[in-house]
Amino acid sequence: MSSPVIEKKIEALRDKIRRHEYRYYVLDHPEISDADFDKLMNELKRREAEHPKLVTPDSPTQRVGGKPREGFVKAKHSSPMLSLDNAYSLEELRDWERRVHELTGRADLEYMCELKLDGMSLALRYNDGRLERGITRGDGGTGEDVTSNVRTVRSIPLVIAKPQLKKAGIAADFEVRGEMLMPLAAFRKLNEDRERQGLSVFANPRNFTAGTVRQLEPSITAQRRMDFFAYMLLKDGKTHFDRQSKAMDALDLAGFKVNPNRRLAKNLDDVWNFIQSWEAKRESLPYEIDGIVIKVDRTAWQRELGFTGKAPRWAIAYKYAARGAVTQVEDILVQVGRTGKLTPVAALKPIPIGGTTVSRATLHNLDEIDRLGLKIGDWVEVERGGDVIPKVVKVVEDNEHPRGDKEFVMPEHCPVCGGNVVRTPGEVDHRCVNANCPAKLQGTILHFASRHVMNIDGLGEALVNQLTERGLVKNVADLYKLTKDDLLKLDRMGEKSAENVLAEIEASKTLPLERVIYGLGIRFVGERTAQFLAEHFGTLDAIMRANAGDLEEVNEVGPRIAESIVEFFADEHNRKLVSDLRKAGLTFTGQKKEKGTKLAGKTFVLTGTLARHTRDEAKKRIEDAGGRVSGSVSKKTDYVVAGSDAGSKLDKARELGVSVIGEEELEGLVG
Ligand code: IVH
Repeated sequence: MSSPVIEKKIEALRDKIRRHEYRYYVLDHPEISDADFDKLMNELKRREAEHPKLVTPDSPTQRVGGKPREGFVKAKHSSPMLSLDNAYSLEELRDWERRVHELTGRADLEYMCELKLDGMSLALRYNDGRLERGITRGDGGTGEDVTSNVRTVRSIPLVIAKPQLKKAGIAADFEVRGEMLMPLAAFRKLNEDRERQGLSVFANPRNFTAGTVRQLEPSITAQRRMDFFAYMLLKDGKTHFDRQSKAMDALDLAGFKVNPNRRLAKNLDDVWNFIQSWEAKRESLPYEIDGIVIKVDRTAWQRELGFTGKAPRWAIAYKYAARGAVTQVEDILVQVGRTGKLTPVAALKPIPIGGTTVSRATLHNLDEIDRLGLKIGDWVEVERGGDVIPKVVKVVEDNEHPRGDKEFVMPEHCPVCGGNVVRTPGEVDHRCVNANCPAKLQGTILHFASRHVMNIDGLGEALVNQLTERGLVKNVADLYKLTKDDLLKLDRMGEKSAENVLAEIEASKTLPLERVIYGLGIRFVGERTAQFLAEHFGTLDAIMRANAGDLEEVNEVGPRIAESIVEFFADEHNRKLVSDLRKAGLTFTGQKKEKGTKLAGKTFVLTGTLARHTRDEAKKRIEDAGGRVSGSVSKKTDYVVAGSDAGSKLDKARELGVSVIGEEELEGLVG
């Protein structure tokens, strides 16, 4: 086929994928299944790999193309990114409106009401219809260039076709401002994953969003499923339409995600109705909001009203009262998790917040207690966002709320097993060091039984506590030895439930290898890593035999994870556990991912900054073609792939006479 024909075909395929991305990520209304979407994407990847010269930066395959960075570059905003003044009552809104009436000399203004999304604001600059830059708010005047991270957000178009912009009435060079956020479901799943891997959890989606936008590795941002809602359209730093409501409709038409929950209000009563109707409904939104933004709709009046120091006079944020309350800390308890981490938890005088009674709030660690200056007996402000874990915000002190006087001391011995508690210098957490601590056992079993792991429904906290306390289950392999008689001896266990639990345990044996690997609870080995390990090695035995070097050949496995895996299998108890699981009949072999043979037997070393792929991607491509990637250059190395700024490895290769190739040539070899 001649090149223009191929180019046309590839571009048509890209358009098709963009249309489906739009339906899925912007409209939440996919037309095809995920599998069919993946098929299209794989076809595009294959075609682009065949014709690397035809790859364009706005291709849907190029969302994660950037290389890991060392920091962010500062970027100036086209016009200041301002914040908003707040109002907390109808009275304050009326005061605001009075000022607006006075300053404009009119009383017939319309107001645009929008949800106040609780994320992080961003400016996106488009040049000739193409996304050129994404910038954080920063200090309002200057932000940070986070383009490579912004590109990974699938509801942000990388390119908008000219006719579409024209239809929307938007010039080819424009700027969109809006809110980047993390949907609650993705937030919860990520925290669960982190907890399972023994990592610290994030307190709320906003903190997570801020951390993710400023991630140095775009591939991590991509995994985190961020979302973006547009709410402002500028041209040369000025508003682009004569009404905010029209700008929102235009953004919608151009293919941006614009929040549909908005209203053009005729007067303040109308605004108030909108505010009240969302106060209750906000619980059912899939993301967090903290209020309603009210904007004078006509941009001409906006200009007339202007700004005070840092906020526009033409807009105001009505803030919902935080779902919080003041209550007393009756005690501070200590919970022990699966990794042995001791978490202080405030035992509160029970209090209703936003429909549920709260009697516990996490205090995370000793540093947090110090930061709050918290003593037992103190009165505290407690907040609950979305359905995130309740949190102690601050200590309250006034005439009605005298200070408590009992200092909390982190126990020197584990409250569950009496084992020694240590705090490794440089770490915030205290841990129980006893490997046989029953709290660790309970946590390990709950992890093993959870939905994403062995999916043993019915094996919840109450049952696990009984099983471990009575010594029926000393490790996860013991689950497979349980009999109906064992279960029937437990509290609240009938014939039918016992049968159900046993059937669930039996069914778990058929789950694939990656679940078993994940279920072992190896530190730092999460769902994804388990999957990569299973695909790379194909059997659990091969993983157990692997040394750190072999393990580091696996996608996304670095020295820290490799070390943790080696340590795990070096332990005698763990080896016995694996052997018991094998006897129980769990799945120990999987589908080794079919590798190509093009590069079979060839060893590569990557050095310098690659332009087209991240390190991990290049490594994966070589491995998928049957090659091996090593960390150091030796006589056995067949090729050194050198990017820009290659250092000592390149010198070594020259010294040893190893072939040095560039990315283009690597593409050629991989085919
Ligand atoms: S308009 C000058 N609209 O709230 C206009 N902001 O407290 C400034 N926000 O920094 C922004 N939803 O991060 C606007 N629909 C919305 C918003 C919104 C959330 C955030 C934004 C801003 C902050 C101001």
